[in-house]
Amino acid sequence: MAPGDDILETEVRDGTIKIHKPEDFEGMRKAGRLAAECLDMLVPHVQPGVSSEHLDTLAREFILDHGALPACLFYKGYSHTVCISRNHVVCHGIPGDWALREGDIANIDVTVIVDGWHGDHSRMYGVGKVPPRARRLVEVTYEALARGLAVIKPGATLGDVGHAIQAYAEAQRCSMVQDFCGHGLGRVFHDEPNVLHVGRPGTGPELKPGMFFTVEPMVNLGKPHVKVLADGWTAVTRDKSLSAQCEHSVGVTETGVEIFTASPAGLFQPAIQGE
Ligand code: MF3
Ligand code: CO
Ligand code: CO
Repeated sequence: MAPGDDILETEVRDGTIKIHKPEDFEGMRKAGRLAAECLDMLVPHVQPGVSSEHLDTLAREFILDHGALPACLFYKGYSHTVCISRNHVVCHGIPGDWALREGDIANIDVTVIVDGWHGDHSRMYGVGKVPPRARRLVEVTYEALARGLAVIKPGATLGDVGHAIQAYAEAQRCSMVQDFCGHGLGRVFHDEPNVLHVGRPGTGPELKPGMFFTVEPMVNLGKPHVKVLADGWTAVTRDKSLSAQCEHSVGVTETGVEIFTASPAGLFQPAIQGE
């Protein structure tokens, strides 16, 4: 084996934003597609009374059956495949013996590793019939992500992306969580750059073709402040207001953006039933 021919080619986080090669996009496409297919698979299972642990098991088995690895399992001591964050949980909710209930909104976040490449993806699910204010928050969150993605192209900056997200969400009288951000990814799960969901136009790193990162805004109905519970993972809104999140893994192309985690079945924004 020649140097560099490692079985699992790893890279290190070295403080720079990696510029990936054109052929690396195919690796991210495969990883992103599997992450989307995993969340597509869960759609019919998200029902009142389903245990969060069961959804985690379904995701883990799906990923392993497809010859991929669940990136979160054993990551920094985390022992599940997905994070399930409902209602006032902002992110990193831990599956367990608790069940989803009628009227909940829940984010399910999965990261898969396919041939060494990471696909990191999350969406909102409605459980049964959901109250109007929760449905509105979910809609604002998807639109905030869409506005952020829409400005991605070579020459734009990360500040432009954060600004587009923040300006929209705040105009809708929602607030942006600032304690967590998106991140570079590729062969590394969490890499440079930090992708803030707030910002000023023209500030921050300039986007270049070959950059891969996530955009994953967390939007609250109340104040932006969060705290992490004693389990060391679960982040909740301090004022217990509802929070929503959605996440895509993307690459900067010569002309714009490629969304690696687009749902082949068109289920990125699963229909949420109203009361
Ligand atoms: N998938 C999350 C993200 O968007 C990370 C989850 S933390 C973990 O970055 F411990 F669950 F992996
Ligand atoms: Co994620
Ligand atoms: Co992420």
